[in-house]
Amino acid sequence: MTSIAIPSGMPQYDDVPRLDVARVRADFPILDREINGHPLVYLDSANTSHKPRQVLDVLGEHYARHNANVSRSVHTLGTEATEAYEGARAKIAAFLNASSPDEVVFTKNSTEAINIVAYAFSNASLRPDGDPRFRLGPGDEVVISEMEHHSNIVPWQLLCERTGATLRWFPVTDQGRLDESGLDDLVTERTKIVSLVHMSNILGTVNATSRITARVREVGALLLLDCSQSVPHLPIDVVDLDADYIVFTGHKMCGPTGIGVLWGRGELLAAMPPVFGGGSMIETVTMARSTFAAPPARFEAGTPPIAEAVALGAAVDYLTGIGMPAIQWHEKELTAYALEALGSVRDLRIFGPTVPVGRGGTISFALGDVHPHDVGQVLDSLGVQVRVGHHCAKPVCSRFGVPAMTRASFYLYTTTEEIDALVAGLEQVRKVFD
Ligand code: ALA
Repeated sequence: MTSIAIPSGMPQYDDVPRLDVARVRADFPILDREINGHPLVYLDSANTSHKPRQVLDVLGEHYARHNANVSRSVHTLGTEATEAYEGARAKIAAFLNASSPDEVVFTKNSTEAINIVAYAFSNASLRPDGDPRFRLGPGDEVVISEMEHHSNIVPWQLLCERTGATLRWFPVTDQGRLDESGLDDLVTERTKIVSLVHMSNILGTVNATSRITARVREVGALLLLDCSQSVPHLPIDVVDLDADYIVFTGHKMCGPTGIGVLWGRGELLAAMPPVFGGGSMIETVTMARSTFAAPPARFEAGTPPIAEAVALGAAVDYLTGIGMPAIQWHEKELTAYALEALGSVRDLRIFGPTVPVGRGGTISFALGDVHPHDVGQVLDSLGVQVRVGHHCAKPVCSRFGVPAMTRASFYLYTTTEEIDALVAGLEQVRKVFD
């Protein structure tokens, strides 16, 4: 594996530990695969990441050795499973610098986590004694941005439909940055919640949130950050981030599918009404009424994704062992390299920031007027896996006047040789369609 030259103009952080990519790659069995007779070049980690052996082993071992339901059996296996499940929660809390594991709610994914918050708000709105911070009605506002994934748009549209509140949004600049120029008019005393993507899944933009947080605090609203694309790639500290809720998903951070996280300030989670009713989320049940457990159990009705949570804990161990600063820096170098390399491809238009500052390793582009599905098909024939389409962020595509984009996204196992393969593949696409 070559070491990457840091392009001039980028800060040289000598103190950031370097990542040994060859060693990292050896942990991921799937990277040995061939696709269509070519070595696999996987550039779709924003969609889902691959899983290292350390995570796959824990997942298999859990089912093979410790399988039982959690929080309801006194037998040995039940105790082992519960300890492993709650141990994973504690690992995730430490990874985020949360003040308590009780602030970590296991969900199916980020989408479910956002929906839990949105439905808790409308459930509070239906109750006369609902906490006023969560009660919405006509005249109240929810603020999102034009840069959101559908999972951070549709739940809020539905919440506004249910409550009569109004949805508003930050626009996006031509450079693919959040346009904060209208901040004070957009976030006002009418705002109940601002829900923003931390790193865009399509533009790669990492949103600096401190001005927005200050305004949110000034008007007494709440702030949710969709960290699906940032938690896997950047060191995230919920104290520094100063949001009220963050959400993310396990499968983009070397963990399995079917497991995600809602982190919320303990005091807020404790004041929120439940969303899903069922086993494990109650304090007591009579035929007439029920009372509810404290968080996180209040939001985890039914048998949870136990093995998946345990394996997410293993993913957190894995990422922590490598070091999030090293991963962040590796991806910064890759992004700088890719922006420069893609810039050399004739007629290629990058959507989003074209400098490796305030952005992550997810780059969407158009190649002349070749349809992204054609680009994706030719690249696939060469073993290069990219995502094409609207990336579940249709408003972003509309903002930039295209129905679809081609997207390459990187992770800790990505190499500059893979970016070279992408560029060579795009030259091949040109030959086919010119
Ligand atoms: N949101 C995922 C992506 O960006 C699915 O590909």
